[in-house]
Amino acid sequence: MLRTDTGQTVKLDAYSETDFVFESVFLTIRLFDGSAEIESEIRLRRREGSGADAPLVLDGDELTLTFLKLDGDRLPDADYDAEPGGLTIRSLPAAEAFTLTIGTRIVPEENTKLMGLYRSNGIWCTQCEAEGFRRITYFYDRPDVLIPYKVRIEAPKVAAPILLSNGNPGETGDLDSGRHFAVWDDPFNKPSYLFAMVAGDLERVGDTFRTASGHDVTLAIFTDKGRSHQAGYAMDALKRSMAWDERRFGREYDLDVFNIVAISDFNMGAMENKGLNVFNHKYVLLDPDTATDQDYAGVETVIAHEYFHNWTGNRITCRDWFQLCLKEGLTVFRDQEFSSDERERTVQRIGSVRRLKSMQFPEDQGPLQHPVRPSEYREISNFYTATIYDKGAELVRMIATLLGPEDFRAGMDLYFERHDGDAATIEAFVKVFEDVAGIDLSSFALWYHQAGTPTLTVTEAYDEAEDRYTLTLAQSLKQGAAGTGTKPMLMPVKIGLVGPNGEDRPLNPSQGGEIREDVIQLSEAEETFVFDKVGGRPYLSVLRDFSAPVTLDHDQSESDRLALARLDPNPFNRWRILNDLIGERLAAAAGGTSEPAQNPLGDELVTAILETAGDDRLDPAFRAQVLNVPADTEIARLIGENVDPLRVYETATRARKTIATAGTQVFERLVAAAPADAAFSPDAASAGKRALANAALGFATLSDGHPDRAFARFEKASNMTDRQAALAILVFRFPEHETTHRALDAFYARYEDDALVLDKWFALQAAAPGEDTLDRVQKLSTHPRFTLKNPNRARSLIGSFAGMNPTAFHRRDGRGYAWFCERLIELDAINPQISARMATAFRAWRTLESERRAKAEDALRDLAKLPHLSRDLRDIVDRTLA
Ligand code: PHE
Ligand code: ZN
Repeated sequence: MLRTDTGQTVKLDAYSETDFVFESVFLTIRLFDGSAEIESEIRLRRREGSGADAPLVLDGDELTLTFLKLDGDRLPDADYDAEPGGLTIRSLPAAEAFTLTIGTRIVPEENTKLMGLYRSNGIWCTQCEAEGFRRITYFYDRPDVLIPYKVRIEAPKVAAPILLSNGNPGETGDLDSGRHFAVWDDPFNKPSYLFAMVAGDLERVGDTFRTASGHDVTLAIFTDKGRSHQAGYAMDALKRSMAWDERRFGREYDLDVFNIVAISDFNMGAMENKGLNVFNHKYVLLDPDTATDQDYAGVETVIAHEYFHNWTGNRITCRDWFQLCLKEGLTVFRDQEFSSDERERTVQRIGSVRRLKSMQFPEDQGPLQHPVRPSEYREISNFYTATIYDKGAELVRMIATLLGPEDFRAGMDLYFERHDGDAATIEAFVKVFEDVAGIDLSSFALWYHQAGTPTLTVTEAYDEAEDRYTLTLAQSLKQGAAGTGTKPMLMPVKIGLVGPNGEDRPLNPSQGGEIREDVIQLSEAEETFVFDKVGGRPYLSVLRDFSAPVTLDHDQSESDRLALARLDPNPFNRWRILNDLIGERLAAAAGGTSEPAQNPLGDELVTAILETAGDDRLDPAFRAQVLNVPADTEIARLIGENVDPLRVYETATRARKTIATAGTQVFERLVAAAPADAAFSPDAASAGKRALANAALGFATLSDGHPDRAFARFEKASNMTDRQAALAILVFRFPEHETTHRALDAFYARYEDDALVLDKWFALQAAAPGEDTLDRVQKLSTHPRFTLKNPNRARSLIGSFAGMNPTAFHRRDGRGYAWFCERLIELDAINPQISARMATAFRAWRTLESERRAKAEDALRDLAKLPHLSRDLRDIVDRTLA
């Protein structure tokens, strides 16, 4: 039997239980230079009710079988078929339990896909989610097979003094020929995707944590040699996460040890393997000289996220991969809440909404659209998307908003109580909230099945004579690429009726139903609320805190919006209103065909932006967000069709210049208020001050028109945040200036040997706006420090070029596409997960103006014609073209 895996579609409907029931596994992993031998001893039995002669069909991927035993005896060749892609065993016992021992041999050094067992920087490590375990041994590599694992690792002592796996540590000892072993025991049932093993010469930082019930946990972070001093902040974030999960969700840690390993070659951000989280070192290693405030926030979030998975993901896992959002959406929600509690809620919410709009909305509105709970896939790796993660988190947030904090917490408690130890489904998750609140959430559950961004249309009327205010909310959803339904869905719409002094008026409608606190539970296609004796025409502050992931269609006058930007008691909406206005104005100016206006924003909007930015009573981080105008890709999305990315960039630049010129004094003051050589502390308040000062520096440089000030700040900077911000200004505004080259060279000379900082050096240059960037990027791709083999490095240059630089990637002559596709093909032969992810840069191709659209389509069709594309990349290319 030959398995060609290309293009098979996996369907949710086709779910069925395994024919055999696994009871436990004992893995022996013998590591050698150049190969690894795996012995897997599985205790199992035929499932009652499954056919007495059904064969055992196990998953495999690029495996070589070395032996196969049934209860200790070699199986005759006729009883099985072993292929690299699977193992089928016939004539197995009908009723009683038995033991299979499966031997496989693999070559970690040649594993460039970084799935399964591979070697990074000499360290042996594993990555098994979603389907990597089958690259180590033949197995039921699916999340609903939950068993205890015992693991024995044997390795050379010098190369691998540290031997780690899941669970609690057991026996260790010496072996012949300079080798040693360690045994690990994980008492918790787990699926194969949560298996992990690490072996290497690692440095250790240790700490302890006492849980609320008094259990002492040994914490450790393992890094490359010479890097452990950079793990302190990650350790601090871990302890804060552990304490927060106890406080906020009543969840304690459950093993004696919790280990984190930082690895330099890693496909994703990090992985929540039980008791042994493996991280991309980017999300562990930090110090002020090499990491930005954004990096600090990223480490805090990812550490928390992986830790929180211990309950939402590990203790309760997914029945199948269609349920991915069950663990990811929920865990993102939890890490967002953690960051909101640890930092500043409004600023965190602004960050999450920006991310949602810039990553998830384009996905939801383009060819790669899929529901939060998909019903089919060709390659599961391609479903670790903004929709599953970020929209998935929004759905949990909506449940929390609809139920209120007490019922939400009660629902979560019930979820843990009812499903601990389960491989669960979305239906089970929604059910707990229905049960605690005694409500029917079926129209809410549609959010999981219907893809696309709904539009929320808001209409208002005010009857002066009656002092009566009427509010109509209507929802609609267009059929998109996924072809799912378009029914109305229950959504929370948070509102306020704001008076002229910024006071929230009572929300007691005389018609339309009750409003609990400030949340309208919109469930129909259209609902109208009438408010009598409102006390004069109010300003409507709608969709506060972005209470539902929708596109707002609200024909509100500019004067009302600008009034709210000053008055709204909901600070999130003060930001949202300004940001929406900027986005709309820029889209209108850049989407047209006539010469854009000198000031596309209009004077009053500019004044409002500057007033907010200059208001010292407001949080600096918030003010920095107000100055951060929507990204070009966001403006392009708002335009929607016939987009000319160069025109978008030029329009946005013109707007920034207008702000810069009108606000010279504000910006001078803000830059001066934050000296570049000030002492560094990574806390959110200090980070906010730096963000504001650096935004101001960007504007000040725009009005200066020369690089001196940015260069001075670059040289004086006491930390990476200020250094990188100044360098970005130079590279983005003066790409060919001699000063910029000097700065880039100095930066390179200083950080040449620090991979994570060098990634920044590549990424900044690749993101510099302008068609000419392609030439510089091409040159950088032959730089001795560039390699496609390291995912972070590949992303830093190629990913940043295609994903962050619309002007250069979408060059009118199509050369951006041509060059990118060549790299993509090279990368695809090395690491298909990364090539597939990068190819999503094409997702908005249909919205481009005709010349570019034709070039992009040609490039995609040429890719689609290639016979040897990975299943990952082919899936993306096919869906993007469909
Ligand atoms: N499960 C990881 C997380 O979100 C992400 C991941 C997916 C990592 C697949 C590796 C492979 O925490
Ligand atoms: Zn996750």
